[in-house]
Amino acid sequence: MLQGKTVLLAVSGGIAAYKTAELASLLVKNGAQVRVMMTENATKFITPLTFEGLTGTRCVTELFGCSDECQIEHIALARHADVAVVAPATANIVGKLAAGMADDLVTTALLACTCPKMLAPAMNTQMYENPIVQDNLKKLRRFGFEVLCPDSGRLACGETGAGKLPQPQVLLEHILRLAAKPHDMCGRRVLVTAGATAEPMDPVRFITNRSTGKMGVALARECMLRGAQVTLVHGRMQAAVPAAVTAVYAPTAAQMLQAVQAHAAQQDIIIKAAAVADYRFAQPAQEKLKKSADSLTLTMERTEDILAWLGVHKAPGQVVCGFAMETQSLLENAREKLVRKRADLIAANSLCQEGAGFESDTNILTLISAEGETALPCMSKQDAAAAVADALLRLWRERNQK
Ligand code: CTP
Repeated sequence: MLQGKTVLLAVSGGIAAYKTAELASLLVKNGAQVRVMMTENATKFITPLTFEGLTGTRCVTELFGCSDECQIEHIALARHADVAVVAPATANIVGKLAAGMADDLVTTALLACTCPKMLAPAMNTQMYENPIVQDNLKKLRRFGFEVLCPDSGRLACGETGAGKLPQPQVLLEHILRLAAKPHDMCGRRVLVTAGATAEPMDPVRFITNRSTGKMGVALARECMLRGAQVTLVHGRMQAAVPAAVTAVYAPTAAQMLQAVQAHAAQQDIIIKAAAVADYRFAQPAQEKLKKSADSLTLTMERTEDILAWLGVHKAPGQVVCGFAMETQSLLENAREKLVRKRADLIAANSLCQEGAGFESDTNILTLISAEGETALPCMSKQDAAAAVADALLRLWRERNQK
């Protein structure tokens, strides 16, 4: 996803610097050209050789060293960068950047960068929460730096609190968000539902379905990578919530309806990829049901159709997309759902086709709208998500003349 992009990775002197080595490796695996620069203190935690081995390029530590191209090094690094990342960002480098200081290679190069810039602060909790540091971070945000929130947990100093560098995979996702795709969904608010609902029978048992949440998560991630502000309302999932997405856990159909209703009005695009129960137990038992008779009959009642509710309560200019997963008469059922639920797009997938449906990493979708139908070939769920996002953005632009 980062083919043809140059990532300028700045490492400052904190114990979390070792995690940046894995980040550098992940960036290389994603096709990026990675240029690493280190502060003098960073070289005490991890050697430039580590980064040179991982990236195949010279790691720069000196402001006045001679560059390969005999250019002015800090300017050349800044000029070629598509995105600049400081990980870990110590209190010291945060302070220097906020003050506009340029007294070493890293600060000088960052001052010269015009590309998107991201800071991943990592330090002791008291240092991180110190109003001076917070004020510096606020100032840097104001000047366009993307500042990540550190993770909480046990820190190297033995204390527990905020200040941990996020995992390399999470840092990678944020870098992908800044550099991998054109931000054609910038300014759009997107709500995605994903996963399976679970309807309780008693405190121990519930009825659910085979949805893993992979398709919904791929959609949330795709919209996030394209610059949208994404809310993911999800039930039970095997897939992890993507970085930079606001997640709301809503495990039952009623809770999902409530969560969707709370967020719906502000959204430009809503995608209902969750597999929602059509029925719930009418009276879930308060205590664990004990076995007695040979058979057990429990009454179930209908849940509210969330997509149909959205169709009726559509905000002006809003675009609503549903999914239709069928085992028979796929297209007929999907067309009927488009009309009955007043959706703008239905992504239909058949459970009978190889490479489609639950648990699979691929999907075969037919996109159905009032304008026509597009049958997509078998592709990864991430590519399928991109095709759905394209179609929805097109509909949103038509509707909003943008
Ligand atoms: N859906 C919903 N609320 C429900 C049931 C379904 O919002 N209570 C949404 C799903 O998220 C999906 C679409 O409706 O986007 C179609 O779901 P599907 O299970 O295929 O259809 P149903 O409406 O449940 O119809 P049927 O069970 O008769 O096929």
